Amino acid sequence: MPGAIQAEGLVKTFGDVKALDGVDLEVPQGTVLGLLGPNGAGKTTTVRCLTTLLRPDSGRAVVAGIDVLKHPDAVRRSIGLSGQFAAVDEYLTGRENLQMVGQLYQMRAKAARARADELLEQFHLADAADRTAKTYSGGMRRRLDLAAALVVSPPVMFMDEPTTGLDPRNRQQLWDVIKDLVSGGTTLLLTTQYLEEADHLAHDIAVVDQGKVIAQGTSDQLKARTGGERVEVVVHDREHIRTAAALLDKYSLRGIGQGDTTVEEHMRKITTPVSGGAKLLAEIIRELDAEGIEIDDIGLRRPTLDDVFLSLTGHVAESAQSDDEEAAK
Ligand SMILES: Nc1ncnc2c1ncn2[C@@H]1O[C@H](COP(=O)(O)OP(=O)(O)OP(=O)(O)O)[C@@H](O)[C@H]1O
Ligand SMILES: [Mg+2]
Repeated sequence: MPGAIQAEGLVKTFGDVKALDGVDLEVPQGTVLGLLGPNGAGKTTTVRCLTTLLRPDSGRAVVAGIDVLKHPDAVRRSIGLSGQFAAVDEYLTGRENLQMVGQLYQMRAKAARARADELLEQFHLADAADRTAKTYSGGMRRRLDLAAALVVSPPVMFMDEPTTGLDPRNRQQLWDVIKDLVSGGTTLLLTTQYLEEADHLAHDIAVVDQGKVIAQGTSDQLKARTGGERVEVVVHDREHIRTAAALLDKYSLRGIGQGDTTVEEHMRKITTPVSGGAKLLAEIIRELDAEGIEIDDIGLRRPTLDDVFLSLTGHVAESAQSDDEEAAK
């Protein structure tokens, strides 16, 4: 089955900034693609190109079977978009905002009103329904923006950082809404700074950096690519670090090119890539003990999506930072 969203070689330049440098994507129908990447990677620009808000310099895109560059109006009728830069009208009430979207999509007034009420309830905005959006908190605006994207149930949806700035309860609740949507056949492309969100919701993850997709696969595939297990040891005495590192290094997978033992002096921590799991761990503990090296902590770690992100992009995920930015708005 062809992808519900397909992009080939999207390029977009702003002045001397190459925001997109040949983005290729394919999202099969009824699945969720999570777009991850550091700030400025090109995620929003990709979404804006795919949703007809921005014309790429070159490349092509097909959404819901329609050519985005040739038939932007038809694409617009087949998609829902909720953005980082919300489309909420500040001077309308929550209810009016949702009704207006319904009317834009040619719903009858009565149906638009009923749908608005349903969504206000679902997104815990019923009490604030008749206040202007200007008076809403950041989280409430975000929920209203998401509700607006769900007024009609389009076959393809785009969400740019849907849960940034939401508290844990609202985030969880939105995840449930998204899962319901997708189980009903909706195709979704979402960008997120929360790796946990991508892990939780996305069938496939595409990592974007400097305007290119640098890796794509399931969360498990990406983790496997980053490397397997590691043993982490924290020694008690700083002077034992070198001896312990040499001992651990005998178990490292360096020989097959999977990286070296690393030492973080200030944390008295040694990390080495291994394979062999728990059995190996026991052996290492015995050897350290035989050498008289006291340890504060030892553990076997499997890569997380954070590790994948770091190893692919050289940045840590920036969710903490975007939360601060969100709070500052
Ligand atoms: N309208 C614009 N004019 C000039 N430069 C732009 C414009 N839109 C985006 N850019 C630049 O293009 C690059 C990609 O931006 P984009 O907003 O797509 O990143 P992003 O991955 O969504 O980042 P974030 O995680 O911060 O949302 C950045 O360098 C940005 O400064
Ligand atoms: Mg963005």
